[in-house]
Amino acid sequence: MKKLQKLTNEVGAPVADNENAITAGPRGPVVMQDVWLMEKMAHFNREVIPERRMHAKGWGAYGNLTVTHDISQYTKAKVLQPGAKTDLFIRFSTVAGERGAADCERDIRGTAVKFYTEEGNWDLVGNNTPTFFIRDVHNFADLNRAVKRDPRTGRRSAQNNWDFWTLLPECFHQVTIVMSDRGIPASFRNMHFFGEHTYSFYNDKNERVWCKFHFRTQQGIKNLSNKEAAEINGMDREYHGKDLFDAIERGDYPKWTMYVQIMTEQQAKNHYENPFDITKIWRKSEYPLIEVGVLELNRNPENYFAEVEQAAFTPAHVVPGIGFSPDRFLQGRLFSYGDAQRYRLGVNHNLIPVNRAKVEVTDYHRDGAMRVDGNYGGAPAYTPNSQGIWTAQPDVMEPPLDLDGAMYRYDPKDDPTDDCFRAGGDLWRLMAEDKKQVLIENTVEDMAPVTKNIKYRHAAHCYLADPEYGERFANAAGLNFDKVKELSKLSHDELVEATLKDMD
Ligand code: HEM
Repeated sequence: MKKLQKLTNEVGAPVADNENAITAGPRGPVVMQDVWLMEKMAHFNREVIPERRMHAKGWGAYGNLTVTHDISQYTKAKVLQPGAKTDLFIRFSTVAGERGAADCERDIRGTAVKFYTEEGNWDLVGNNTPTFFIRDVHNFADLNRAVKRDPRTGRRSAQNNWDFWTLLPECFHQVTIVMSDRGIPASFRNMHFFGEHTYSFYNDKNERVWCKFHFRTQQGIKNLSNKEAAEINGMDREYHGKDLFDAIERGDYPKWTMYVQIMTEQQAKNHYENPFDITKIWRKSEYPLIEVGVLELNRNPENYFAEVEQAAFTPAHVVPGIGFSPDRFLQGRLFSYGDAQRYRLGVNHNLIPVNRAKVEVTDYHRDGAMRVDGNYGGAPAYTPNSQGIWTAQPDVMEPPLDLDGAMYRYDPKDDPTDDCFRAGGDLWRLMAEDKKQVLIENTVEDMAPVTKNIKYRHAAHCYLADPEYGERFANAAGLNFDKVKELSKLSHDELVEATLKDMD
């Protein structure tokens, strides 16, 4: 940190007194002439910027990614070539809570990484779960309204959460994860994280494969029970932020091993379910984890607002060798983040140091609020131009992608391969007995304020995932198991119809 300076005003002139307002006489009113006082109050009034619409509560750290293995057959991205070491900034967050929310809430954790690569910034904006609640971009605003505050009471509402989650059966796998012991990590250091979506790689021969990103903690998985979390939240709402900061300060640098899963275009065509549906996972037994390198966090920010609050990540920021996929949920995100940040931080937010690329940026965007660099001086503002600058770089063009089918609003539930309960059932069957018990207890506790019709809807989904899961949840929640079995025979629409009103 730079040596702290003597006090000046906003344009560098010395401030004589920062304690006593200028008054007309020793007991008289303040005069307009106290311009330092006006400046100080006016600035203070504007110190709050809009919080992120979701993921508002978060913590950040710097580090690097070191590539230890060779995946150059899949991608030409320089950041992923063997031996590459790239600086990065990460921001961990909860999703539903506002900026002042407690860290140890039952929620998924956001994990946004900005890699400052030599080919520009690559942002991987993921979570600590391999899947997501929903899969169509239309449902995203509604998910957030359901998990955030009720419009009438201004309070969070378990009824709204569970009503929404159970009306969209694709939520089931993610809900099972969030209700499991992993729903409250002991720290950010003790959790895995994932890119979740299917992305693409292309190599120097312009051959494409589909890929998923995994970061597995080297600190081991550790979680908190509801009781432990409640006690911590009562004592220290910034518990996860403190844990991360303190570990880095004492030199105990957290590390994650980076892996990718790869699926060829041909495999994707023959896959037994939609490989671009974010609510599905690729089984590791079929698409094994391929080791890439090590991500280490080793430096704390110097200023929370400048570096963590003003950080802006977007899945739209990729570099040559890394691309998108037809995942309709990812496609929606490609627009949403930059748009949110133009509102939250302003159109020139990529000039803020934490967001700024380490390489020279020549985007030829001009003007706008808070343009704090030279604004490209007198260089032409248009292309094509006779000076031959701002020319596109066709050598990084992605390979073309074949598409098929008519343009239409397709409902994934109409896809005969779609099964919203298979992955949740597999997870249940993988769990040891004590984990199953915790999942059931957490679900029952979370659903305690929820009406019975919604509990029945969820119980029917549990049953469809695995009869044992359904039976144990039904019994623990005091539901009639025979009724659950009957409900599980209904189609989705019939189940919704049968559980719209509260039941005995
Ligand atoms: C269509 C679906 C989605 C939309 C429209 C969406 C939109 C947004 C928006 C607008 C923000 C706030 C950005 C800002 O103000 O800087 C945000 C934050 C975030 N989102 Fe999403 N999101 C979606 C799905 C997802 C998914 C699937 C993931 C994880 C794979 C994810 C992870 C995150 C994270 C980690 C942040 C916080 C970034 C930070 O730390 O600054 N989101 N999202």
